[in-house]
Amino acid sequence: MPDSNQQPTTAIVRIQRFNPDVDKKPHMQDFTVPLTPGTTILDALHQIKTEQDGSLTFRRSCRHAICGSCAMNVNGRNVLVCKTPLARELDKQGCVTIKPLPYLPIIKDLVVDRSSFWEQYLRVKPWLIPPDNVPEKEFRVSPEEVEALHNAETCIMCGACYSSCQVIAMTKHYVGPHAALKAFLRVLDPRDTAPAERLADLAGGDGVYRCHTIFNCIDACPKNLNPTQAIETLRKLAQKRQAMEEARQERQKTLALPVKSEE
Ligand code: FES
Repeated sequence: MPDSNQQPTTAIVRIQRFNPDVDKKPHMQDFTVPLTPGTTILDALHQIKTEQDGSLTFRRSCRHAICGSCAMNVNGRNVLVCKTPLARELDKQGCVTIKPLPYLPIIKDLVVDRSSFWEQYLRVKPWLIPPDNVPEKEFRVSPEEVEALHNAETCIMCGACYSSCQVIAMTKHYVGPHAALKAFLRVLDPRDTAPAERLADLAGGDGVYRCHTIFNCIDACPKNLNPTQAIETLRKLAQKRQAMEEARQERQKTLALPVKSEE
């Protein structure tokens, strides 16, 4: 009699395929792969590519959740497949479904075009714009100032948050949670000299006010970061900046007025 506690030794990997040279639209294809307790979804994709179908196309590089290139949609959730155990994602039939990141144009199979993602990243000028008096050795930043960044510097730019965002589903002009998180880093960085310009851009039409606060980005982030909180902080700072600017403009209108003589 077979042992009902025996773990399955194979799994079915259902993959969305699309070859723009021959396919009019994507279709699903099943593969059976060996299953061990340590098998990750990326291992399964490698097994398929090397042993079964060399045309299967996907991005990956580090295999250690560092480079951010292997983000895909697994059973409806965006994850890094290199750190996702295959056994954990299997349904009762021993099957897992893998699709490319949603809301982005598909180049081939599991590879998407991330151009809009990178455009928004560059839009926020994610680099430090330092003051003229750069110290010879290092800037001295306090532990409290580092704490305020909430580990945002550990973002690996995988795109999982970006492609889970319902606003991105509607428009690629929105700054997006990934770029907002980078802007947050720079705006709160005491070494940066351009927070006002950054906030002015973020307060514009396709900036942080377009966020619907649905929290998908938080659920999707494989590094447990909180882009929604960063967006909220940027909104508050943008409001303060706007209010200060409006008050200054009002005051400037009166600066050149003649002083009323006392009668
Ligand atoms: S392969 Fe680099 S994050 Fe997965």
